[in-house]
Amino acid sequence: MNPTTHGRATPIGIAGAGRLARAIGCLLRDSRQPLASIASRTPARAQAAAEFIGAGIEAVTYADLAKHTQRILIAVPDDALEPVADTLVIDRGIVLHTCGARGAEALDRLRARGVSCGAIHPLQTIPEGSGAAPLAGIHFAVSGDDAAVQWAEQITTAAHGRILRVASESRPLYHAAAVMAGNYLVALLSAAEDLMDLAGVPRAQALEALAPLARASLENTLRRGPAGALTGPIERGDAATVARHLLALQEAAEPVRALYRAGGLQTLAIAAGRGLPPGRAADIERLLRAE
Ligand SMILES: NC(=O)c1ccc[n+]([C@@H]2O[C@H](COP(=O)([O-])OP(=O)(O)OC[C@H]3O[C@@H](n4cnc5c(N)ncnc54)[C@H](OP(=O)(O)O)[C@@H]3O)[C@@H](O)[C@H]2O)c1
Repeated sequence: MNPTTHGRATPIGIAGAGRLARAIGCLLRDSRQPLASIASRTPARAQAAAEFIGAGIEAVTYADLAKHTQRILIAVPDDALEPVADTLVIDRGIVLHTCGARGAEALDRLRARGVSCGAIHPLQTIPEGSGAAPLAGIHFAVSGDDAAVQWAEQITTAAHGRILRVASESRPLYHAAAVMAGNYLVALLSAAEDLMDLAGVPRAQALEALAPLARASLENTLRRGPAGALTGPIERGDAATVARHLLALQEAAEPVRALYRAGGLQTLAIAAGRGLPPGRAADIERLLRAE
């Protein structure tokens, strides 16, 4: 199948009815793609997603999904990917999955049956009920067989997005980067909130107080790059302040202490790269690595 010649008319099914499935469903609906059906593990979830997307999309089971569709997008958690793929009764057409850390090889059993397989991962966080909006203009990590990649490119174009070509074997590293840029930002702010709490700042106030600092740091990093954005005690080579932090952190939970040390070492690498004298860097590194 060549989706560039026949793709717009070939019916599409979505396996999975969660946050990403709904967002991509809305995107396909808005770009007038022939989205026909959506399936989920539980019928009620499939029905709710069909109603959310609208446009006459039918709620079906995984086993029935391929009955009237020849292009299927699987948007389920990584550990459900193979079991769900195994339930698809399909021996031609295209199947894409949306896992970040895996490539087309995750669908090898479908490939062996003659299906063109690939992966399309949106580099975005998609909360419940968000429609297609979070997908607009983002990058999509794409890999796989030719026809599958062409369909992935069509989806990317519908989102006015951009393609990131990521080889299958590099997808775990790519996805680890995505996790650090998204989930770990959340974790870092949560750790900062915990430390504010220990310092006597009420939780209700902590995030609000940290917000200008966090927003400015993120904006400066995105605009100027990490080296141009860095300030603070490590950038200044202030080992005494780092030592004070480490002493005080003894009352913090272990994950928060570990985050401080790991974040400190990465911060030190940025500071060293922009000229922190080696002697000062070595003093701070010794403190951060000490048990
Ligand atoms: N949400 C995001 O921010 C985001 C961002 C980028 C990529 N993704 C990708 O999107 C995919 C799905 O993530 P999501 O956040 O949309 O998940 P989700 O909201 O939790 O939805 C998961 C869907 O998979 C089904 N499912 C879960 N476990 C299953 C199993 N063992 N067998 C069969 N079906 C199962 C669920 O069915 P029931 O609800 O009926 O049980 C549901 O339809 C993943 O590949 C993820 O990498 C998500």
